[in-house]
Amino acid sequence: MLEGMIKEVLIDEKQLKDRIKEMGKNITNHYNEDDEIVMVCILRGGFIFMADLVRQVELPVSCDFMDVTSYEGGTTSTGNVRIIKDLEESIEDKHVLIVEDIIDTGLTLKHVINMLKTRKPKSIKVCTLLDKPERRTEKEVEADWNGFEIPNEFVIGYGLDYDEKYRNIPYIFIPEPELYEG
Ligand code: XMP
Ligand code: MG
Repeated sequence: MLEGMIKEVLIDEKQLKDRIKEMGKNITNHYNEDDEIVMVCILRGGFIFMADLVRQVELPVSCDFMDVTSYEGGTTSTGNVRIIKDLEESIEDKHVLIVEDIIDTGLTLKHVINMLKTRKPKSIKVCTLLDKPERRTEKEVEADWNGFEIPNEFVIGYGLDYDEKYRNIPYIFIPEPELYEG
């Protein structure tokens, strides 16, 4: 399926598995057993990471999902963040843990955090699988837990898409330009 389309496998399955296990431990250690915690997955990119991460968290968490979009099918941020699907449950007085696939410019996260803050949660923390720190001029949004810092390259796989495809690839790779050209 991807023959000649992969420039570099950036993070393989074993690396993902090991790191996510560690992150799950760190998150487990941060909260208390009787905290009311809602893990908020940012769709769609976060769904695979969320599924793997939540199984490494040894706390009675609930899971909720929010669909926002900042990219309109291409590979660069437009700065537009749109809420497509909101949370099902109230987060008032709960500990919110936002689960993101990637922090790029940080615009998406900034919008989501500001919006969720108005709903009076007890706390808001952020866990991201990938971070492109180079892309942020103002360091105002940072993750509390960060899986991997990556260079400023468009990456695909493990939840991340190109034009809604390849989210099902079990590792993270940098594509060859041929992939975009179809
Ligand atoms: P911002 O710039 O708001 O972007 O932090 C966050 C969202 O943009 C998407 N994104 C990517 N998607 N490969 C992708 O497939 C990438 O390299 C990439 N960089 C950003 C992603 O949906 C993320 O939530
Ligand atoms: Mg995308």
